[in-house]
Amino acid sequence: MSEMTLSPLVLGFWRLGQWGYGKQELLRLVERSVELGVSSMDHAMVYRSEAPFGEALALNPSLRDNLQIITKCGIRPCGFGVLGANAVNHYDFSQAYTVHSVEASLRDLKTDRIDLLLLHRPDFLMDIAEVAQTFEQLHATGKVLHFGVSNFTVQQLEALQSALPRALITNQVECSPLNMTAIADGTFDQAQRLGMRPMLWSCLAGGRLAEPKTSQQHSVVAALQVVAKELGASTVEAVIYAWLMALPCKPYPILGTSKVERVQAAAEAVNLQLSREQWYRIWEASNGASVP
Ligand SMILES: NC(=O)c1ccc[n+]([C@@H]2O[C@H](COP(=O)([O-])OP(=O)(O)OC[C@H]3O[C@@H](n4cnc5c(N)ncnc54)[C@H](OP(=O)(O)O)[C@@H]3O)[C@@H](O)[C@H]2O)c1
Repeated sequence: MSEMTLSPLVLGFWRLGQWGYGKQELLRLVERSVELGVSSMDHAMVYRSEAPFGEALALNPSLRDNLQIITKCGIRPCGFGVLGANAVNHYDFSQAYTVHSVEASLRDLKTDRIDLLLLHRPDFLMDIAEVAQTFEQLHATGKVLHFGVSNFTVQQLEALQSALPRALITNQVECSPLNMTAIADGTFDQAQRLGMRPMLWSCLAGGRLAEPKTSQQHSVVAALQVVAKELGASTVEAVIYAWLMALPCKPYPILGTSKVERVQAAAEAVNLQLSREQWYRIWEASNGASVP
């Protein structure tokens, strides 16, 4: 059972570079989100969100203790990186790269600790003993309080967990009414078994559910609208988050929005309860056919 709790909804900063926000606007988004109960902040070294976030946080340093800062490491893109440029995009869970990445994240975020560090995408050259040693070093120095993974298969997670003295906190995976893979491939069954709460990315399918185009997207949105009306929900987005939070592994959806009013609309989801029938109606709209 994991010993760390995030806020029921998490705010993600993958798209921060597209928002055109200055540090005051970014600070306002973070402060208002915390007031709305969204206090967990999801970053990654490759999002290049950590430095602007750190600049915004420096305007109100007392905010830090109200936040749970999540960041990720393990991707080495061409063109930039904490150990210089490399010619081929690749993954790297080596001790040297992970430690460098964490140190760069701490510096950019202007904080002395990362609450939760995730391995961003599985490294096919992952040596579980080396990762265990790295995690212990980062934990012992107080630089990282908790660890998790992202986009791991059930088997990859099982293998890594077997080498670790502490429980992994989460597996951050894609999940939305348009991408239900993790619902069916064992990821969430494993999470329940381990008492581990997944984090979910692209819950609005990268915004496609907010602006549907294909027939599948239209039929999912139509089903969401019916459920929204039945529940008295203000937005279909709130129903999507409630649909995800109804999963028994108790996942944490990550919001990708830049807008306070959309964080506020999403926060309504915490008080929405879907019936089993409503849940399956949305599943059916996505699947295109009823359960067998
Ligand atoms: N671990 C991984 O590999 C991984 C991969 C991808 C993402 N993530 C994490 O998950 C977070 C969320 O992912 P995501 O950004 O793809 O989430 P998302 O919520 O599916 O998509 C966010 C996009 O949808 C738009 N949107 C939201 N509500 C809208 C509405 N009502 N009408 C029109 N557009 C709307 C947002 O624009 P506005 O800003 O205008 O609201 C934003 O561009 C990321 O920030 C990151 O932290 C992790």
